[in-house]
Amino acid sequence: MDGNGRWAKERGWPRSRGHFEGAKAVRECMQGCLDLGVEFLTLYAFSKDNWQRPKEEVETLMGLLKRFLKEYTREMKQHGVRVQAIGRLWELPKDCQEQLQGAIRTTAHNTRLTTILAINYSGRGEIIDAIKQVLADVEDGRLQKEQLDPEIFQRYLYTSRWPDPDLLIRTSGEMRVSDFLLWQVSYTEFFSLQKYWPDFTREDMRLAVEAYMKRQRRYGGV
Ligand code: IPE
Ligand code: MG
Repeated sequence: MDGNGRWAKERGWPRSRGHFEGAKAVRECMQGCLDLGVEFLTLYAFSKDNWQRPKEEVETLMGLLKRFLKEYTREMKQHGVRVQAIGRLWELPKDCQEQLQGAIRTTAHNTRLTTILAINYSGRGEIIDAIKQVLADVEDGRLQKEQLDPEIFQRYLYTSRWPDPDLLIRTSGEMRVSDFLLWQVSYTEFFSLQKYWPDFTREDMRLAVEAYMKRQRRYGGV
C-alpha cells in the first residue's frame, strides 16, 4: 500500500493525512475482493524497515492500525472477513497486539475473505525465522535433514496455512518487491498501477483481477 506520503504532499497536507486516507482505501480494497470472490488478501501495512521513519510517523501508523481495527472489526465480521496477521507481532506495542488479537478472535469463524495484515513484516526475517525452526526440528529429530524440500520448508513460514499469492498489486508505479513475501512470490503475477494508495478503489481491484485473468501462467513449463 504505497504512496500515502506523496498523495498528501501533492495536496500540501501532512503525511499523516495520507495515511489516514490510505486506511480508508483498505475498506475499498476489501470490498473489491468481496465483490470479486477473492478469498485471500494480504495487506503490507508496516514493514520491519518502516521503524526507521520519524517517531511521530511510526506513532501515527500504529495509532491508525488500532483505530482501523477498532472501527472496522464489526463490519468485517458482518461481511464474512476473517482477520489474520503475519510478521514479528510480538514486537508491536502491547495495545496494538491486543487490538489485533481481538479482531482475529472476533472474526475467527469467517470464511469468505481472509485478510492477512503484514505488520512489522520482513520477507527475509520470515525466512530466517523459518530456518531457525527447521534447525530446531532437525536437532530434536523431528525432521531429517534429507527430507527438507520446498514443500516441507513452506510449512515453517508464517503463511503455511495459506496458498501463495496469485497476484501482487503495487501502487505508485513502483516496481519493487520491498521484502514482501519473498519466498511466496516465486510465481506470482505482478500488477503495478500509477495511482497512489489513497486513491485505490474497488474498481482498481477489478481492473487488476481482469488483467491477471489475461495472463498465461506457465510455471516454467511451456
Ligand atoms: C505507504 O505509504 C504507507 C506505509 C508504509 C504504511 P508511504 O508512507 O510509503 O508513502 P510514500 O511512498 O512516502 O509516498
Ligand atoms: Mg513508500
